[in-house]
Amino acid sequence: MNRNLILIVDDSKSIREKLRSILVDNGFEVIIREEGEGAVQAALEYFPDLILMDYNMPGMDGLAASRMLKKYSQTRAIPIALFTDTEDIKNKVKSFQIGVEDYILKGIDHKELVARISGLLNWKTDRDKIIREKDKLSGLLDNFRDAVAIVNHEGQIMFFNRSAADRFGFVPEVIKAGNLKDVLPECEESREILLAVEERRELEELELEISRCDRQRIYTISIRRVELDYTEDIGAAVIFTDITGEKEAEKLKAEFHSMIAHEMRTPISVILGYANLILEGNAGDVSDMQQEFLQGISGNGEVLRKLVDDFLEVSRLENKFVNLDVASFDMVELIAKTVKGLRLLAENKDLKLEFNPAGESIMMNGDSDKLEHALINIIENAIKYTEEGGVTVECFGTGEGVEVRVSDTGIGMSEEEMETIFRSFERLEKAQKKKIKGTGLGLAIVKEIINAHQGQIRVESRESKGSTFIIDLPSLDEGENSPVEAAETCQASSE
Ligand SMILES: Nc1ncnc2c1ncn2[C@@H]1O[C@H](COP(=O)(O)OP(=O)(O)OP(=O)(O)O)[C@@H](O)[C@H]1O
Ligand SMILES: [Mg+2]
Repeated sequence: MNRNLILIVDDSKSIREKLRSILVDNGFEVIIREEGEGAVQAALEYFPDLILMDYNMPGMDGLAASRMLKKYSQTRAIPIALFTDTEDIKNKVKSFQIGVEDYILKGIDHKELVARISGLLNWKTDRDKIIREKDKLSGLLDNFRDAVAIVNHEGQIMFFNRSAADRFGFVPEVIKAGNLKDVLPECEESREILLAVEERRELEELELEISRCDRQRIYTISIRRVELDYTEDIGAAVIFTDITGEKEAEKLKAEFHSMIAHEMRTPISVILGYANLILEGNAGDVSDMQQEFLQGISGNGEVLRKLVDDFLEVSRLENKFVNLDVASFDMVELIAKTVKGLRLLAENKDLKLEFNPAGESIMMNGDSDKLEHALINIIENAIKYTEEGGVTVECFGTGEGVEVRVSDTGIGMSEEEMETIFRSFERLEKAQKKKIKGTGLGLAIVKEIINAHQGQIRVESRESKGSTFIIDLPSLDEGENSPVEAAETCQASSE
């Protein structure tokens, strides 16, 4: 077993010898110095388990040597017991103020001296153990790639690992002043995190963008409850997982998909163009059989073109970025143009297609190309899912923007069905039973375009009676070009 090493410092030879014999007899190892400076040097060289030091010595006295030892980080943890002839309260207070652990009178009974030394050594052993455990824990947490901050229920940061220090610029000395809310940006997600901490709730991976120390990163933030036993408080471990790289990879993947789909559009258009040229007789007479085959090429080519277009839209949609090219346009003119383009489709099914604008023109700001795309999808649906009767498009100004209504006399849908139709790849059973073709992407794209315009879309419908799609659009500020996240703005209601 390791014997405890005690540094004895006293200018009196007789006292040194006396102390040596008591301590050696009680199983301690000792080193001896005669004055303060020598004591400091010995402490730095041998790192004793305890220092028993005379208060009054010529040269550097016990108090000055102790002050120095408590200043050095290497010797700060060594317990010091000052040894003195008189019980001077002022000296005693000064000693404890600089961090000395005990103050012992020289006339003390030997047994009591040994007991006090043993007590100090036991205390040191326990404290060293706690420090080792804490170092082990922080060493472990420091190896985490995730930033971890332990906070109390007020969000006060009690502890953090190296990754948190690097990412958020935490400085150990000022940590007590730090609060979780100083790290988080002002947003709804941050409020949710702080509320969970306050209510001592756990939380699963909430996504958040944080800019600190000139770095902009995306994190998922999770909260786990931890017991802060020293305050009997339930605190929280807030774990910040950096997902910036994954997000960038996802975006690259989406861009790659978009690029492939985009590249496919040109050859498809070329194939369709040539098929149509031959069909129109530009390459000589076309027999009935050739015409039939060419129509097969042309029809399926159109299906392929629509699929590629929808895929392009959806890959943008899934990555939640819709860049708007906002400019002023006339909504009445846009709807009239769209209706004109779809008239043939309606006539082929003997359906009426009417447009009833409330006025001659409604000027507003938005991305007219994207809105045209949305209108085509909705009016096309109305024609597609109507067997007799017709489709009516109405539009009127609302002061802040415009409301567009597309009503049909078609197959309609139930209340539950209305909840689902805006999701990607969602098609209703009756549409499939009637063998009406589609991929189920049209309305998902429409919803995304309307959301990007900060508008709302909802449907009113009755089975076998018809449906009305209602779009409310505000007029945007010119030049507004916002990637808007898909929000749940769809509402369904039945007549
Ligand atoms: N006017 C409508 N009347 C009745 N059902 C409709 C109407 N519009 C949409 N639906 C239902 O909602 C579903 C989703 O419509 P959506 O436009 O997203 O897809 P789709 O028309 O099937 O395919 P596509 O991607 O080619 O547009 C349709 O499959 C259909 O069942
Ligand atoms: Mg559709």
